[in-house]
Amino acid sequence: MKNLIIKDRFFKDANKLRNFFEDQFRDPHQAHPKRFVWDYWNVPGQYRLVRTPAYHYFPAKIYQQFHSELVQWGRQNLGCHDISPTWLSYYTEGCRQNLHSDVPHGPWAFVYSLSPKKIKFKGGETLIFKDQVLDYWKNFVDEKDREQSSFVDEIKPNFNRLIVFDPKKPHGVTEVRGVEDPMEARLVIHGWFVQPRPYVQGALSTRDVQDQIEQLMYDLSDKLSNFGSYWGTVSFGIDVSAKGQVQKVEILTDTLVALDAQSLPVSQFSKWFISEIKKIKFRHKTKNSRIVIPLIFK
Ligand SMILES: [Fe+2]
Repeated sequence: MKNLIIKDRFFKDANKLRNFFEDQFRDPHQAHPKRFVWDYWNVPGQYRLVRTPAYHYFPAKIYQQFHSELVQWGRQNLGCHDISPTWLSYYTEGCRQNLHSDVPHGPWAFVYSLSPKKIKFKGGETLIFKDQVLDYWKNFVDEKDREQSSFVDEIKPNFNRLIVFDPKKPHGVTEVRGVEDPMEARLVIHGWFVQPRPYVQGALSTRDVQDQIEQLMYDLSDKLSNFGSYWGTVSFGIDVSAKGQVQKVEILTDTLVALDAQSLPVSQFSKWFISEIKKIKFRHKTKNSRIVIPLIFK
């Protein structure tokens, strides 16, 4: 699925982050500055969790490596150049996030879990509405009963798991029950991928690529409006030879939806767009290039 990404064993030094957190809470009798940094965030009926800025909490050396790897992953898979300032949040008994959507924050959200390897709490799953619910009657088949798993994806906060999803979709965190100690809590680093724009590795310059893509969008603007109305972000991975020819185009991530029945279906639209990208002639260079282009439709 290209609009919900789940990556297990994301960060090789996840234990270092987890161990640092545990060290701060190991002795509940001991008072020290790292125990006083937490905000009990309670918005009645909507949010309840305990949070602190992650980039201030962890020692720079441990945190920076994680941060860099996450940023790099976002560049190579989404075409997003940075991440928002990250939160570190823990969820004990009664903590949750009720359904909401994060519209202006960025095209993709992430949740990275540092929860205990052996989870004792119940709940704490990241809950995201499925596409078929957001377009319910169009896909409705009157054949079988549906239960919760038909309507939402529920992703467990396994240790060292990264989840990436479209934050415009209704989402939340199911209520955590059964643990009171921060050492046993659901623990996550979360935020948004931001600054979508072409990401280039290899010989081509970002300026070259940007100019070509702007020209492509200009040339296609009439056709694009005839095809219909779309909403969402598609990130294309493009391999370009030294001669400037497009050798391969793949869709890396995709949240695109057609907004009405008159619009060309997304699968056909994407196919057509890939064929147009293949026609681009980039500048001659001495080496190959790899490009990631995020296109935002709204
Ligand atoms: Fe959210």
